[in-house]
Amino acid sequence: MRCCAFTTEREVTMLRSEHILAYLALVCSLLIFSAPVEPATGEKMKNSCVDCHSQLAGNSFVGTRSHDWKGSIHQKHGVTCDKCHGGNPRVSDEKAAHAGVLGSSSPQSTVYYKNIPSTCGKCHGAEFYKFTQSLHYKRLEAAGKGPNCVTCHGSMVITVLTPDTVAAVCERCHNERIGVFPYIPQKAKAVLLLLRESNALLEAEKKLHHPARGGEAARALRDAEAALYSAKLDWHKFDLDTITGHLQDLYNSLGKLPMGNPRR
Ligand code: HEC
Ligand code: HEC
Ligand code: HEC
Ligand code: HEC
Ligand code: HEC
Repeated sequence: MRCCAFTTEREVTMLRSEHILAYLALVCSLLIFSAPVEPATGEKMKNSCVDCHSQLAGNSFVGTRSHDWKGSIHQKHGVTCDKCHGGNPRVSDEKAAHAGVLGSSSPQSTVYYKNIPSTCGKCHGAEFYKFTQSLHYKRLEAAGKGPNCVTCHGSMVITVLTPDTVAAVCERCHNERIGVFPYIPQKAKAVLLLLRESNALLEAEKKLHHPARGGEAARALRDAEAALYSAKLDWHKFDLDTITGHLQDLYNSLGKLPMGNPRR
């Protein structure tokens, strides 16, 4: 082992900073990946929840829910049933596997509507953090009146809303009948459309200009990228004006790009 063979002071200092870096990386990875996902490579792990539930009849309530997970982005990334519901996926006996699994109406369940944000937040920490800052979260915590993650993403997380579908979801609570900010669905649609278009525009500009060449263009693209990132994050705080503000910053940054096609 090299660690016992160093001699000069410089080597010691270097080794020490290497260790500090390795330590920091470890701490970070523990924080980020507190709920590890099965590796996508190598032999597929056996999972009794998936094995048994995929054989349940599709016309029962439990069966329908189970089959909904198939083809979802979570299935593709190895996020199995137990990651959200708990239980023991390594045993095939039904009772033993269900240890700790509770139905969604039980307040102790990981999928009880008020507990859903923190269950998802184990892996989607940034969205969860922003969500906890929203009025939606406060209303959900207080009287159960705000939406939770699956109100918008579907029970088994099979949807990401688009400008075409977002208004209908907001309208469930924001409408003339209930009277809570009835203008929101149309505004949400416009903001999400702007977000998507800004994303596309930035991608196009990145192809046109060489970020690797440095200089003013690279700086402008970096600033635009940061503004887009902030806009996406603030989406889960549902502060529509703040999002629009970030997108304005993005356009201002892109405005600083040199004119013409610099590749020629
Ligand atoms: C051997 C088969 C089998 C295995 C293994 C199994 N389940 Fe189930 N599960 C069932 C059946 C059958 C039901 C419906 C039971 C009922 O309606 O009483 C069910 C019900 C459920 C429910 C609904 C509970 C409720 O009260 O509404 C959830 C959630 C669930 N299972 C998750 C899991 C998870 C997570 C695992 C793995 C850790 C798992 N199951 C393993 C067969 C299985
Ligand atoms: C990404 C997290 C997640 C994954 C992965 C997931 N579920 Fe769910 N599941 C939920 C949530 C959240 C609910 C509650 C939805 C609601 O309230 O409408 C739920 C509801 C259910 C229900 C209805 C239970 C009830 O009491 O309402 C069943 C059954 C179920 N899931 C089975 C499964 C099975 C089987 C798998 C794997 C094949 C699975 N789920 C994977 C999050 C997940
Ligand atoms: C064990 C970790 C884990 C948990 C728990 C989890 N997810 Fe995910 N989720 C992932 C991974 C991995 C991906 C795919 C890679 C990515 O987009 O980051 C993903 C992707 C997504 C996407 C992006 C879909 C797309 O098409 O781009 C949404 C939305 C999502 N999850 C919502 C949820 C919600 C809502 C819950 C709680 C009900 C949840 N997730 C629970 C790990 C998790
Ligand atoms: C009121 C509706 C709503 C609620 C509540 C909500 N989301 Fe979303 N979420 C959206 C919409 C709309 C998008 C698509 C934004 C976009 O296109 O950039 C999205 C996107 C996402 C993405 C994908 C981000 C990406 O850039 O690919 C993840 C992951 C996600 N949400 C997780 C969560 C989690 C976790 C919660 C709960 C803590 C949650 N969402 C609550 C509406 C919602
Ligand atoms: C399950 C019901 C529900 C759904 C669905 C829902 N909301 Fe809300 N929303 C609420 C409630 C409740 C409030 C708080 C009203 C109050 O107490 O003043 C609220 C408040 C808001 C506010 C004002 C926040 C503030 O800080 O002033 C915005 C913006 C908002 N919602 C956006 C949205 C968008 C965008 C969607 C769709 C993607 C959506 N909501 C879907 C229930 C919902």
